[in-house]
Amino acid sequence: MKNIVAGNWKMNLGLAQSIELAQSIANSLTELKNTEVWIAPSSPALASVKQSIVGAKISMGSQNVHWEASGAFTGEDSLGLLRDVGCSFVLVGHSERRHVLHETDEMIAKRTQFALRSGIKTTLCIGETLHDQESGQAQEVIHRQLDTALKSSNKDELANLVVAYEPVWAIGTGKVATVEIVDSIHSFIRQYLDKNASGIEIPILYGGSVSPGNFAEIIAIDNVNGALVGGASLDPQKFLKLIEISENN
Ligand code: PGA
Repeated sequence: MKNIVAGNWKMNLGLAQSIELAQSIANSLTELKNTEVWIAPSSPALASVKQSIVGAKISMGSQNVHWEASGAFTGEDSLGLLRDVGCSFVLVGHSERRHVLHETDEMIAKRTQFALRSGIKTTLCIGETLHDQESGQAQEVIHRQLDTALKSSNKDELANLVVAYEPVWAIGTGKVATVEIVDSIHSFIRQYLDKNASGIEIPILYGGSVSPGNFAEIIAIDNVNGALVGGASLDPQKFLKLIEISENN
């Protein structure tokens, strides 16, 4: 399976900056053998970003998606519209949605199931808090997050799944999980997926303060199939370096 290097731009860029960043990545991309490049701009920038990188080998996706096809859901985006503007993947359950916007496991499950059922690549973000980690509950939390989101999806639907393990305490903090933690949680996730979706290739990404300085060590770990990158994805040089490290892995 190819690695995925995915940039999550969060709510950081205006329209001109989004287009500029997308184009500078697109213009510097060389032929890639082992790596898929994904970017997730803010919703209002999606259509223009897509138009600005026509022909580039970059997949664009949304940072969230609603669980109904349409309706009275002010402030949410429908999958149909996201597809119309060129999205080929969605993120769901990002820790900022869980912990800042207070989305529950159940809401995230609905988003995940709807997206998987609709046949779009669906990146389910999961991860424990510092308290969970320090009290030895990381695996239990990861299991609960996986199970609530995935238990009602069938194997065909799970073929569209990507899992992103992002320990909450490592996101945007400069603290990277140790190799031991990443190794143990990724193999725990892999075991869960092997049990519930055997025979299906599901990439598992690591996220949390990934940078050119630490990525070579992370991508070399078993069951790490790429990264979901926040801060470093806003700097084209750093993001391109991450792609290069993935290619050389
Ligand atoms: P970070 O964000 O790389 O800035 O830690 C990762 C993420 O939130 O996906």
